[in-house]
Amino acid sequence: MTVQTVIVLAAGEGTRMKSAKAKVLHNVAGRSLLGHVLNAVEPLKASELRIVVGSSRELVEEHIANIAPKATTVFQEHRGGTGHAVQLALAGLKTKGTVLVLAGDTPMLTADSLTAFIAAHNEGKFAASVLTAEHPDPTGYGRIIRDDADELLKIVEEKDASEDQKFIFEINSGVYAFDGEKLAASIGKLTNSNSQSELYLTDVIGILKSEGASIAAIMIDDFTEVLGVNDRIQLAESAALLRDRINDHWMRAGVTIIDPTTTWIDATASISNDVTIHPGSAIYGTTSIASGAVIGPRTTLTNCRVQEGASVLESIATDTIIGEGSTIGPFTYLRAGTVLSDATKVGAFVEMKNATLGTGSKVPHLSYVGDATIGEGTNIGAATIFVNYDGVEKHHTTIGDHVRIGSDTMLVAPITVGDGAYTAAGSVITEDVPAGSIAVGRAKQRNVLGWVMRKRAGSKSAQAAEASEKKG
Ligand code: UD1
Ligand code: CA
Repeated sequence: MTVQTVIVLAAGEGTRMKSAKAKVLHNVAGRSLLGHVLNAVEPLKASELRIVVGSSRELVEEHIANIAPKATTVFQEHRGGTGHAVQLALAGLKTKGTVLVLAGDTPMLTADSLTAFIAAHNEGKFAASVLTAEHPDPTGYGRIIRDDADELLKIVEEKDASEDQKFIFEINSGVYAFDGEKLAASIGKLTNSNSQSELYLTDVIGILKSEGASIAAIMIDDFTEVLGVNDRIQLAESAALLRDRINDHWMRAGVTIIDPTTTWIDATASISNDVTIHPGSAIYGTTSIASGAVIGPRTTLTNCRVQEGASVLESIATDTIIGEGSTIGPFTYLRAGTVLSDATKVGAFVEMKNATLGTGSKVPHLSYVGDATIGEGTNIGAATIFVNYDGVEKHHTTIGDHVRIGSDTMLVAPITVGDGAYTAAGSVITEDVPAGSIAVGRAKQRNVLGWVMRKRAGSKSAQAAEASEKKG
């Protein structure tokens, strides 16, 4: 085993976020910051995963139980610094083997880089290794201080750094690998004699070095991988970098993304080759999109399944299945529980919720379809409303195959319309419609002759009507 134990530090308040929510719970690319870190750590298959929690403990622990149920959480009641957090995490732990320590606020780290880092650490049999990077703007990070032989001497925090040290561009990523026994032997020696009066984990490096242990600074090529998120500006920066990384991945896999700068795909989504995504689109959650589908422009899909060759134009869909070859939009709103079979059409200003539409069926214009089952080859006329709510409860509507619902029909649920039935335009349907019949649910039209000439005498309408009478 290459790593025995992974310790993730996630107890900080994230003061600089100015948020009611714990920093590590903030999202980028569909995962919490902590979720990204745990995702990068997962392939290492460490036998022990310990996460130090503190600020917003309950919510963070609940989140961890969801995304990493095998992890052990360690409670840090008072923020005593990163060194203090590791002291707590080590309590009662077998310290043999390699211990990887990292922070919960570095969402860009990849499993590949961590694997390479640990391999280098293990191969060199170092007491401790620090992952470092050349950062174009090192402000805020701990600086790597090297001796005349160019070897790692110690790490100095920004707040404790001299003016000269602030000009060092090599930074501490906050990712460390330790020989577990050496870490355990030195972690108790930390003192808080620094500008923040905290126990700095970084000081373990200086302590081990002064004791003659072998220490390594291992530099990563791509500094963006170790970006820490401490405020909303860095949150947006890492979101944009992750967006680019994810888009590059899908474009290499054969997806056409017309404008990668305005296309936001969560790390948890999956897209087949020969999908085209137009500008301004967002693909969130567990959404999957099959080959040949065309998405956007300006479309948001959350936890949807889009099947082969479907198109979704200028629309919003959540928890929806869109069948093969179906065409959606523009301006369609598909809510949770919508299931569209193959070759369906759902058009402009249609809202659907908890409704199934059979193969080849259409809801082309201006309708609300809620709590319904609709058969195959059925057409729902413009401006039809599924009246599913009686003010207290929701009710279901069932519509058969090859039905023609006339424009502006109100279908007052619970109701069933049989196979092949019609409804007359403008009907309010309150009773079941047997198969093959037409339901007419509206007042019979009556014309009151001469009404305008009598009641609106002299108006433009009356003049027009009189002129028309003269013409015969
Ligand atoms: C830390 C490093 C710095 C490095 C940077 C990389 C120290 C002293 N400094 O600084 O050298 O360049 O990360 O991003 O380690 N935490 C706890 N308990 C605590 C304090 C912090 O769990 O008492 C957690 C935080 O939640 C966070 C991580 O440790 O996930 C790092 O803390 P943070 O305050 O972000 O440290 P930085 O100032 O970024
Ligand atoms: Ca940080």
